[in-house]
Amino acid sequence: MELEISQFFELASIDTIGRTALGEEFNSQNKENHDFRNSYARLAEIFAYRLSNPWFLSSSLFSLSSKKHEQRNSQHLMHEYVNDLIQKKKVELNEKDKSTINGCRDEGCSYQKPKYLIEILLANEHQVTHKEMKDELITIISAGHETTAKENSLIIFMLAHHQDVQQNVYQETNSIFSDGDFNRSPTYEDLQKMEYLERVIKETMRLYPAIPFVHRQVQNEMMIGKYLIPADTIITIPIYCLHLNPKYYKDPDQFNPDNFLPDVCRSRHPFAYIPFSGGTRNCIGMKYAMLQMKTAISTLVRSYRFSPSKKCPTPKDLKLSCTIALEFSNGCYVKIEPRS
Ligand code: HEM
Repeated sequence: MELEISQFFELASIDTIGRTALGEEFNSQNKENHDFRNSYARLAEIFAYRLSNPWFLSSSLFSLSSKKHEQRNSQHLMHEYVNDLIQKKKVELNEKDKSTINGCRDEGCSYQKPKYLIEILLANEHQVTHKEMKDELITIISAGHETTAKENSLIIFMLAHHQDVQQNVYQETNSIFSDGDFNRSPTYEDLQKMEYLERVIKETMRLYPAIPFVHRQVQNEMMIGKYLIPADTIITIPIYCLHLNPKYYKDPDQFNPDNFLPDVCRSRHPFAYIPFSGGTRNCIGMKYAMLQMKTAISTLVRSYRFSPSKKCPTPKDLKLSCTIALEFSNGCYVKIEPRS
């Protein structure tokens, strides 16, 4: 069967972030309407439209455009969605017993289960305003779902186009899940053992960083190499180009997970690889993302074999564009067969 996989990963990633960060079953994979997802996608498109028509970066000019109205509607839907979620969780928590937030949720259990982000925020309601709580949740749901969904699609795509690498990933999972318990969910310890898969994930993020560009405003005048950068300049850091620099990567266009062997990593400049950005405002979800991607990919590879689709016979046929994150211009197609 040939499938456009990115749409499935997007819904699965929203469900995952819902369950792990919010303790909420979004159940997006079984729904027709996706208010949060659709509003988010529309806002990203409008943002990209403003970047490519820079006169609309001026708020007063943009407020005259029809897209301003659309932006307001999408923002409203997104905010309503999260408001409803906060209200629902408040009721649920009051019904249970707020005291269990700081301890165990199950009767008789002797260990402390991790708390969901929304529970932590609600337990600190006197310190966090409703708006702060809403903004925090929107940021986590948005930043946490799209990036991992894009990367998961790209990892499967690369495995489909590199059968030898896919076979190695399969063998590694085989060595972790013995015959009797092949279908169980991976534990945290299992995920730590997936060293080869980790290299595959990192190499995919090198060639296709989900966030290809980040921006910074320079506070004080400074020199970068021989260039003087005046204060207040906004500079773009092209992660995508940096990862293809032949100064740091031999054959930079080739997909080669060995670029992430420990010795090779040690010999490279630490900032030659920054899919999660760097410095004080880097990604706060990078550890979570790695666990999520390892869980998703190892689970899929255990049961399915992936190969190139006729719609996208070589990696060069994959057409990408960019809003805030990488976008698939014509989808991300692969062929999927069950292993048994
Ligand atoms: C493969 C997956 C991911 C990639 C490639 C990625 C990439 C990035 C990048 C490049 C930035 C920095 C943006 C900048 O410097 O302007 C960032 C920031 C951020 N990411 Fe991620 N991210 C991923 C997954 C996640 C996940 C799963 C979460 C949450 C659960 C998350 C939450 C955030 C947040 C909240 C920020 C803003 C941090 C701040 O401004 O202080 N990300 N991410």
